[in-house]
Amino acid sequence: MEFKLRKAEPRDVSDILRLVKELAKYEEMENQVTLTEKDLLEDGFGDTPFYHCFVAEIQGENSSDDPKVVGFVMYYFTYDPWVGKQLYLEEFYVMDQYRGLGIGSAFLRHLSDLAMKTRCTGMMFVVAETNEPSVQYYKRRGAEDLSQEEGWRLFRFDKSSLVKMGTPAEE
Ligand code: ACO
Repeated sequence: MEFKLRKAEPRDVSDILRLVKELAKYEEMENQVTLTEKDLLEDGFGDTPFYHCFVAEIQGENSSDDPKVVGFVMYYFTYDPWVGKQLYLEEFYVMDQYRGLGIGSAFLRHLSDLAMKTRCTGMMFVVAETNEPSVQYYKRRGAEDLSQEEGWRLFRFDKSSLVKMGTPAEE
């Protein structure tokens, strides 16, 4: 089965959201997805994109069929004050029935080339501890587990903590 990778376009937001939800379901956290297609459109395709995406397409059985979006990768650039530019791999997903065809490897090849072209020094990402197949997938390709090796812990201030710490609203 042949696939093609291409840069995501505004028309892809419904497929991206569908795949985001499938990945959240796979990670048993589907109810935490509150994002809408409008958010994805504004945040990814406005003057200052907050994320970038590539999608994988498979041509339908008949040449007249529209190609089907079966996977995506979402990433952005971050900055590490010790070593400089970094890629951040936010999400990476291929639909169950299209796994094992090399689509994931093609996404990672694309990101590696992009990282070299833009002189990034690495690519960071977070994997759920329970997602053992993906932990192994990344390790087979040389990824280091920084929680285990360097003891970093992942933190978040949620919106209510930010409101509490921020400037109080005027009465
Ligand atoms: N299903 C899954 N894996 C298979 C299958 C199959 N039917 N058949 C073979 N494999 C093996 C392949 O041999 C290959 O092994 P390798 O690692 O030794 O090369 C590997 O599994 C699959 O490699 P690819 O075809 O290059 O990758 P794929 O297109 O299957 O995508 C991905 C990999 C994205 C991790 C996919 O498995 C997936 O969507 N998993 C579920 C979601 C997930 O965990 N995403 C990552 C979350 S972490 C994050 O987003 C930062």
